[in-house]
Amino acid sequence: MKGNALLAQASLGSVKGRLISIPTALLVFWIFLLLWGERRIFDQSVRQCLWQQWESWPAHTQPHHVLLVADPQLVDPHTYPDRPWPLSSLTVLYTDRYLRRSYRLLQEHLQPDATLFLGDLFDGGREWGTGESSSPEQRYRKYGSRFWLKEYIRFSNIFLRSWLTGSSVSPAEPTGRRLLASLPGNHDLGFAAGIQMPVKERFDAYFGPLNRIDIIGNHSFVHLDTVSLSAMDQIDPKTGSSGTGDGSAAATASSKIWKPVEDFLAEAKTIRAKAIQHTCETRFSWKNPAPLSLVPEVQRADQTESSKTPQNSLYPVSSSQFPTIILSHVPLYRSAEANCGPMRERGSAIPLQAGYQYQNVLTPLISNDIVKHLTAEEITMIYSGDDHDYCEIEHNEFTGRIREITVKSISWAMGIRKPGVQLVSLWNPVGVDKAMSNDPKLSTPRDTVQNHMCLLPDQLSIFIRYGQAAGLTLFILLLSALRYNPSAAVSQAQHEKSEASLLPTAESRRAHESSNHSNSSCVQSGGSSHSHSHLFTRKPGYGHIPASSRTASPVPSKPPYIEHARNAYPIGPVDVAGNNDDDDWGMPKRMVAMAKRRNLPPATRLAYLRREIGRTAWPVLAVYMWLLWNG
Ligand SMILES: *[C@@H]1O[C@H](CO)[C@@H](O)[C@H](O)[C@H]1NC(C)=O
Ligand SMILES: *[C@@H]1O[C@H](CO)[C@@H](O)[C@H](O)[C@H]1NC(C)=O
Ligand SMILES: *[C@@H]1O[C@H](CO)[C@@H](O)[C@H](O)[C@H]1NC(C)=O
Repeated sequence: MKGNALLAQASLGSVKGRLISIPTALLVFWIFLLLWGERRIFDQSVRQCLWQQWESWPAHTQPHHVLLVADPQLVDPHTYPDRPWPLSSLTVLYTDRYLRRSYRLLQEHLQPDATLFLGDLFDGGREWGTGESSSPEQRYRKYGSRFWLKEYIRFSNIFLRSWLTGSSVSPAEPTGRRLLASLPGNHDLGFAAGIQMPVKERFDAYFGPLNRIDIIGNHSFVHLDTVSLSAMDQIDPKTGSSGTGDGSAAATASSKIWKPVEDFLAEAKTIRAKAIQHTCETRFSWKNPAPLSLVPEVQRADQTESSKTPQNSLYPVSSSQFPTIILSHVPLYRSAEANCGPMRERGSAIPLQAGYQYQNVLTPLISNDIVKHLTAEEITMIYSGDDHDYCEIEHNEFTGRIREITVKSISWAMGIRKPGVQLVSLWNPVGVDKAMSNDPKLSTPRDTVQNHMCLLPDQLSIFIRYGQAAGLTLFILLLSALRYNPSAAVSQAQHEKSEASLLPTAESRRAHESSNHSNSSCVQSGGSSHSHSHLFTRKPGYGHIPASSRTASPVPSKPPYIEHARNAYPIGPVDVAGNNDDDDWGMPKRMVAMAKRRNLPPATRLAYLRREIGRTAWPVLAVYMWLLWNG
């Protein structure tokens, strides 16, 4: 039967057209693209940093793993004060997502024994008012303590939650994993004379102590609040000369800022010796041959009593066996030509600049002061942040090979294309005899630190890929709209309909058109079921059930060709007739009409384009939102 064959062809064609329609193909393409941009590229970046990929210690060592995070600088109203509303919120949303996702993957895959932050946790932390102070800038005065607290919670949500989900024990650190975010940056406190004491005290209360010494992986880690110490010797941006100025009132005010750090530095050797002693006794259970009158309880620096007597004799351990690593937010002084190495993104050196609330490097006086107090020969590494880009130099001005690495910002909104973190692997098996000998001739062990810069995805290029893909998608849809012939589509749909009804004559079609819908479909199905029942999904005999006795259940689906036939009408024939449509299983009439209209072939190319864009964009957006929200 000719009609039968045509019918089969038509319905097969429409099924095929639906399965691999252009919007479907585009959706599949977008799902792969989004999975790449929101998951795979992040996963890949972090997997390339796995410790065993780059560490080169002798076999059977158990190094201590440190993750250094610099300048997350959470985007806030201070970052882009003039950005209009939807854009400003989107920037916050995207930078927070990026930080949370990258950091979570770093914690999950690398499981560092210690996570240390290098300052500038916030962008405008120094501006948010306290009970006693407010921002020097009028436009930030409305942000007070409550805002600070919200930012503190925001920081915790991004950087503490995923850290907490990791295991608390680590093989290389018997005392457990560590997270320290106490180093302040110039965006947290301000810089030097620009620091407001209440702001500093608040940061100290939430994140402090600002200066501290910890024994991590058999190394002495010294956190130094160099933004405060810089008040001792600050570059005047106007004159370019350094000094605290001659105003005595200003001098006493600034001495309040730098004095505690300088006091800490003066005590640093003792504090370090105490901390090492404590570690040797508690961790390694090494008994000291010399009787001790004082057992240090806490390794923390700010609790040190002022000791006039030289305490070194009480702590006869040799601090030289625990190489010192300095953490400072601002890099130490170097010449303007000091080459940062090939891993830097912008330029080849850190420009020596200073301005309101910042100074790119410490002054020579401050740098020397730090190194002198901690014994140059015992310092093996310095890590700093602030610059946002990578920089690796060797300080030739000091004895010993002190290397300094300035760590990249972990945020993608900080002027670099590829953010990053620093991975530090420490291996320094201390011998009990050497550690306890206190022989001044003992030299500090070298090559106990291995470094690796870990790059994170270039978010901007991901967005650019999305933009290109969106352009391509639009182009493809535009092409398909141009190829679309509205009149042909409508007449084809009508043709399909008439084929489907199996009433090919004009007369019967007219009769059909004027008849009740429910009735006509009953006739069709009932009358044709014998000839092509294989096409029917419904139970045979359904068509004979009178409309009044049918249930509201939509499960027995109608043959596809009937659906098509109905769609061919500009408005459902029933609606024209103004009759009740029992066939729509009790759906509200308006909804039925809407559904019918939506399934019509669009009457113009523009309408077709709009429909196809909608069919593509909404599912893609739904997938994107899901990926964005779930990790
Ligand atoms: C630290 O020294 C102790 C004692 O020699 C050793 O058992 C441990 O493995 C060392 N740890 C690291 C990370 O070097
Ligand atoms: C629709 O069907 C009902 C019952 O079969 C009938 O009374 C009515 O006249 C029909 N309407 C049209 C327009 O055929
Ligand atoms: C409806 O269908 C029944 C049974 O097939 C038929 O007897 C009746 O004449 C039809 N009514 C209309 C309005 O087409």
